Amino acid sequence: MTDEQVKARQETRQILKKFGRKRGNLIPILQKVQGRLGYLSREAMLEIAEFLGIPDIDVYSVVTFYNQFRLTPPGRHSIRVCLGTACHMKGGYITLDAWKRRLAIGRGETTPDREFDLDTVACVGCCTMAPVTVVDDRPQGKVEPTKVDGILLAFEREREKRRVSENS
Ligand code: FES
Repeated sequence: MTDEQVKARQETRQILKKFGRKRGNLIPILQKVQGRLGYLSREAMLEIAEFLGIPDIDVYSVVTFYNQFRLTPPGRHSIRVCLGTACHMKGGYITLDAWKRRLAIGRGETTPDREFDLDTVACVGCCTMAPVTVVDDRPQGKVEPTKVDGILLAFEREREKRRVSENS
């Protein structure tokens, strides 16, 4: 087991101490655990199922049913492509495809280096700027594939600076 898996189990156990073993506590437990870990790892879900005395698949089904829960760790930067009506009409799916290709991940996933996670959102209230991508909670307008490259380039520069300052 990796250090991260061990930590997930330990932290989940700590949280479980505050709850009774009632199935009705499943969602509040999942929310607390995700609040602590940033997502719901396999180890955390197994701990929760065991604690509540319910099948693992029941926990997994609830986690995948609700959008609020994540199965992958969050990235350092979050990328949320708006697929509301206005953004959809202005090519939101093309933008989403561009992000997927550039980051080599799918919707709901995190890059292996944990630098970015990618997902979609419904209208974020900036329809006049469609297609919109929310980058680290900041809506950016007219994000077409060429702009995706520009945003990534800016992050690459920032990362490079971080590397240099860490090594100096
Ligand atoms: S539909 Fe995307 S901001 Fe409104």
